Amino acid sequence: MDPFASPHKIDPQFRLLLGEASGNLCEWFARSGSDGPLPDSFLLPEVAPQLDGISNSDLLADLQLVMDGSYRPSHPGALAHLDPPPLTASIVGELICAGLNNNLLAEELSPSLSSLERQLCEWFCRKLGLKPGSGGVAASGGSLSNLMALVLARHNAGLENDSSAVFFASDDSHVSLSKAIRIMGLTQDSLQKIPTNEEGQLDINSLYSTFNRIHSENRKCFGVVATAGTTVRGAIDPINDIAKFCQKENLWLHVDGSIGGAFGLSDLTSYLIKGTSLANSITVNPQKLLGIAKASSLLLVSEKSVLSSAFSTGLPYAETPLGEYTHGGELGIQGTRSAEALKLWIGLRQLGEKGIEDLLLGSVNRRYYLESKIDTSMFEIITGPLHLLAFTPKGYSFNKGSEWSKQTRNYLLKKNFMLSRPLYKGRYYLKVVLGNPHTKNDDLELLSDFINQSIK
Ligand SMILES: Cc1ncc(COP(=O)(O)O)c(C=O)c1O
Repeated sequence: MDPFASPHKIDPQFRLLLGEASGNLCEWFARSGSDGPLPDSFLLPEVAPQLDGISNSDLLADLQLVMDGSYRPSHPGALAHLDPPPLTASIVGELICAGLNNNLLAEELSPSLSSLERQLCEWFCRKLGLKPGSGGVAASGGSLSNLMALVLARHNAGLENDSSAVFFASDDSHVSLSKAIRIMGLTQDSLQKIPTNEEGQLDINSLYSTFNRIHSENRKCFGVVATAGTTVRGAIDPINDIAKFCQKENLWLHVDGSIGGAFGLSDLTSYLIKGTSLANSITVNPQKLLGIAKASSLLLVSEKSVLSSAFSTGLPYAETPLGEYTHGGELGIQGTRSAEALKLWIGLRQLGEKGIEDLLLGSVNRRYYLESKIDTSMFEIITGPLHLLAFTPKGYSFNKGSEWSKQTRNYLLKKNFMLSRPLYKGRYYLKVVLGNPHTKNDDLELLSDFINQSIK
């Protein structure tokens, strides 16, 4: 049996393999609701290849073991993280992407797909209010998009050789920024953390005073990261005020919209993240809410030329692209990369603008519903305008709260609800992310009963 599909005729073995594998996947989805979000245990098939390759039926049996041991994002109780179930068209997009095996590194290795990525980024830019001339590049995850944004910001300020150059972000900004300073060779205090207010938003006055202090120490600054949707509670930083400050002080504004950026796609929700039109760069992560199969992240920039200006090294082994285009591998950190735009494009087309809106509003409504059911005489709830909330018992010591969070998380898992347990401002919380479209009000009613009963 030839393991490569024939380029001359339909390969019946390949067709059979695809058919059976897709059938197994459909069955896996269909069973996801009856088992819990997490398997109790799993068996792993043999990992190393044997001397001779194995048959398709053995491959499928091994694959089944891996599938049976997987996390099940479709389960209505899968509410722990920003990992919703994938759209069916997005799964197909991923499959076709693997089959085409094009490479976004170079135009000649992905003629239609490079063009698709460019146009899709421009569509996102328009939706988020960026002007003509804006554009973007896909990246494998929000951490990478944020890293690239910081590299752009530093490059723009001409501070590539200054390891103590500074940027600012709130206490609640994502850990990917700390990772970025290590990769970029910056000093630990290059990331100046700004305290947040009661709502979990960057405190603008503290930004001003911290900037003044850094300035008086003669350190150079290159940007501010505003988070649109913080990881624990979905808070949105005051993007407009931060933008004005950045303009005044000539700093790059990056909006980390990994969570909240998607809300810019509907006229009914875009007010939640107003100010993105003033950003120099924006991260959006369609994998986190829109049902696009992982990985799917975009880095959008207000002026697309900045990407090649920071990242282009020349690609002497590929033909120069026609027109004014730059190779995809010259627009960011990644060289070879798959056409992640394909599953994003086809998923959004499957949803349509109305479907996108329903997904966004549905998520926020589920959060409102659950919030209304948790007993606030017993619990402190922290949330924002999006689809995340976290809660912890009032008046518990650190140790008691930690014990409660562990026990309640485990108890809820047994009841087929999976929540996460973030440590936030010195206390353990249980966090619920309400982006799963299979979660219904009845599920949330049951969940809130369990939550309210978790304090004896
Ligand atoms: C606000 C924020 N930014 C960035 C990221 C990083 O995204 P990724 O996990 O895709 O690298 C996350 C992940 O949860 C996030 O919450």
